[in-house]
Amino acid sequence: MLGSGAREHAIVHCLAREGGHQLYAAPGNPGIGGLAELHQADLTSGPAVALLARRLKADLVVVGPEAPLIDGVADALRAAKVDCFGPSAAAARLEGSKAFAKEVMAAAGVPTAGSAPAGTPDAAAEALDRFGAPYVVKNDGLAAGKGVVVTDSREAALDHAQACFDAGSTVVVEEYLDGPEVSLFCVTDGRAVVPLAPAQDFKRALDDDQGPNTGGMGAYSPLPWAPPDLTGQVLARVARPVVAEMARRGAPFQGLLYCGLALTAKGLRVVEFNARFGDPETQVVLARLETPLSGLLLAAAQGDLERARPLVWSQDAAVTVVIAAENYPGAPVTGGVITGLDQAAAVPGVHVLQAGTALDDADRLVAAGGRVLSVVGLGPTLAVARDRAYAGAWEIHLDGSHYRSDIALRAALG
Ligand code: AMP
Ligand code: GLY
Repeated sequence: MLGSGAREHAIVHCLAREGGHQLYAAPGNPGIGGLAELHQADLTSGPAVALLARRLKADLVVVGPEAPLIDGVADALRAAKVDCFGPSAAAARLEGSKAFAKEVMAAAGVPTAGSAPAGTPDAAAEALDRFGAPYVVKNDGLAAGKGVVVTDSREAALDHAQACFDAGSTVVVEEYLDGPEVSLFCVTDGRAVVPLAPAQDFKRALDDDQGPNTGGMGAYSPLPWAPPDLTGQVLARVARPVVAEMARRGAPFQGLLYCGLALTAKGLRVVEFNARFGDPETQVVLARLETPLSGLLLAAAQGDLERARPLVWSQDAAVTVVIAAENYPGAPVTGGVITGLDQAAAVPGVHVLQAGTALDDADRLVAAGGRVLSVVGLGPTLAVARDRAYAGAWEIHLDGSHYRSDIALRAALG
């Protein structure tokens, strides 16, 4: 397992539950270290990762975050004859460049927001006026979920575009998509596509979807309000056409195609693609997966997904609440001591996944990043799962930390 977040902890937790595996992670975190042997590796270096995988005789390498994929780590692993769950650099461009994703969607006839790339303030202003308010301005490159500004203020939209230009990047200006968002993870071997269960993420920092965009402050699954044919529609109109288009271009997408969708009044629209599992949606989706994850990921890595059996899902609902460090999504305050993990994990149906954590010199668990923990609650209904996740979060103490209080609230009320 490559990576160090709660998403990676969730994947390792899921694999550990199966039993019978020797698990390794690089770099991992103290939570992952309880389940897997930790190693150091430069995740931006394909050769370094391939060397480590060969040395450990890894049967499969699962790449958690997008950056190594975009840097070509999956290519290096495949070249070294190591099976890898994660797309090539050429295929990961679906996440790495918003403009490329738009081009692929146009070629494949996939519904998405109208958009215009802009490289100058004048072009950005023209596009903003064409689409009108609310304004959506996206950094064209990778920005960890924080490169997007959605605002009613033309001035704030222009300021964000200028900040991107100043940083040497270009932007994509988009039509505003109204309607609830859904994340659907699709496992693919470049041909066959197997959808996981839909989830919903909470991207804004504060309750009632206020405050800045973050990497994600919580999630839940299943979505009781979603249309029953949602997954079928996404497969037919989005995932399969995109996977086919990438194969046609000679850049088959092998790994996890994360479809970020808006269910608008005009129908389904793609908001974004990611080339890897989403964080924090993975924490709830994998908590409900009963089929062994290892077999699914290995089949995708080996181009053998056609033979995968249909997935089995728990009837339980899952809710995760992200505990963030003081000042996140700004520069987080790190070093604060975290307590109460054992008490949280003792709440029935609760497990705690670690993200930005580290051990200090006195072996105490301390905050080391923006999103620190993901508390996951499972229960027979969303309301029960939600109560459990919050009962767990309540047990945890980290000075200055914050979490949203409305994760899955509306869905649980039905
Ligand atoms: P992205 O990085 O493209 O996923 O954007 C991050 C978040 O910004 C999304 O999850 C949405 O909440 C919001 N967003 C992005 N594009 C749009 C859009 N066209 N209309 C409305 N909201 C958007
Ligand atoms: N939850 C959003 C993401 O992983 O990009």
